[in-house]
Amino acid sequence: MEDKNKKNNEDRYLEVVIKLLYLIIALMIFVGLFVYINVAGLPDMLKPSEELVYEDAKDTVSKKVDIKNELWQAPDTLEIVKELNAEQILYGRSLIKNTSLYLGPNGTIAHISNGMNCQNCHLDAGTKAFGNNYSGVASTYPKFRERSGAMENIYKRVNDCFERSLNGKALDTLGKEMQAIKAYIVWLGKGVKEGEKPKGAGLVELKYMHRAADNEKGQLVYVSKCLSCHGTNGEGKMNGDNFSYQYPPLWGEHSYNDGAGLYRLSRFAGYVKANMPLGAKHDNPQLTDEECWDVAAFVNSQVRPKKDLSNDWPKIAGKPVDHPFGPYADSFSEEQHKYGPFEEIVDFKKKNSKSKSKLN
Ligand code: HEC
Ligand code: HEC
Repeated sequence: MEDKNKKNNEDRYLEVVIKLLYLIIALMIFVGLFVYINVAGLPDMLKPSEELVYEDAKDTVSKKVDIKNELWQAPDTLEIVKELNAEQILYGRSLIKNTSLYLGPNGTIAHISNGMNCQNCHLDAGTKAFGNNYSGVASTYPKFRERSGAMENIYKRVNDCFERSLNGKALDTLGKEMQAIKAYIVWLGKGVKEGEKPKGAGLVELKYMHRAADNEKGQLVYVSKCLSCHGTNGEGKMNGDNFSYQYPPLWGEHSYNDGAGLYRLSRFAGYVKANMPLGAKHDNPQLTDEECWDVAAFVNSQVRPKKDLSNDWPKIAGKPVDHPFGPYADSFSEEQHKYGPFEEIVDFKKKNSKSKSKLN
């Protein structure tokens, strides 16, 4: 009897010791993991990933971007004075910021544009992350562009914006103004390697919606979030100086024409996502993606100047999915190419190019 009791006690003692051992091992594993995570960081797959997709000259190219670490930053403007052609670069910068003063309807140099400034769309003189900045221009031009079907240099690209976004005339390539604009763009991109497009260049690339963008919903967004600055009729608001806008127009005779980049819904929506209402940033957007697509549909359904586009996209298969003018290499309507849904068109394009490459 006594023996049995003793044995029982021993058993229990052993049980407690084993449990304690387990507990210690568990604790050690826990502490070990804790230290590991703190020192080595979370394994990649467990990290919350921020997916920001950005423009890469082609449609629908998407990449994961670590926006915190690798964003392009413009060189310091105060450094310009150290350059041999400092005066030229500064004049170029001024032309980007105050285009209208020099080249608008009342411009001091010529009257070749609609009163907008380059900076209205290329924010902070073309330096803002995802604000349509110029970081990847000097490094990637000259390049082939489908819209013209030709190699384009910086002059051609700048004049594209004069003729479309500023609904105006091309600048003389050899003139002082164009040379200055180019000098500024080259200076901005001086830290960027040949062929590279830095993170934060161009615009945010929004995911396509499953539905078509909705004009009426877009009107509600416009009225509540945009109208206070851009006006009841999208006409914007002039500064008192009669040269420039405090708030640039979004449609009507003084706005960009239907050949401009912003006339494509994806460009407009991407611009708005990271930049509008004024003060929005790529890491502090103020609208949902859907609101951006819908307000893009609303604004781009209003009346605006027209451009002769008959020479654009000589190879129709090269048209971006959201180019709103046919003919197309597919059978989707102009309406669907303008407002979406775009996914079906993208899928069709993919299938088509696969079956083509099989044939080749
Ligand atoms: C109404 C808006 C708007 C205005 C004003 C405007 N642009 Fe643009 N610009 C765009 C858009 C949109 C793109 C194409 C962005 C994209 O597809 O990612 C673009 C592209 C460019 C590019 C090529 C950028 C690249 O990375 O490939 C250059 C260079 C450029 N613009 C220069 C100018 C200059 C210079 C002016 C003033 C004379 C100007 N733009 C005025 C909207 C505008
Ligand atoms: C607080 C005033 C304000 C509000 C609200 C605002 N914007 Fe703007 N917007 C501006 C200013 C100012 C610029 C020009 C920025 C610059 O030159 O630095 C601009 C530029 C633009 C441009 C490019 C230039 C052009 O005129 O084509 C677009 C497109 C645009 N805004 C769309 C919108 C949309 C869409 C909304 C509503 C979701 C909106 N904005 C709300 C002030 C505003």
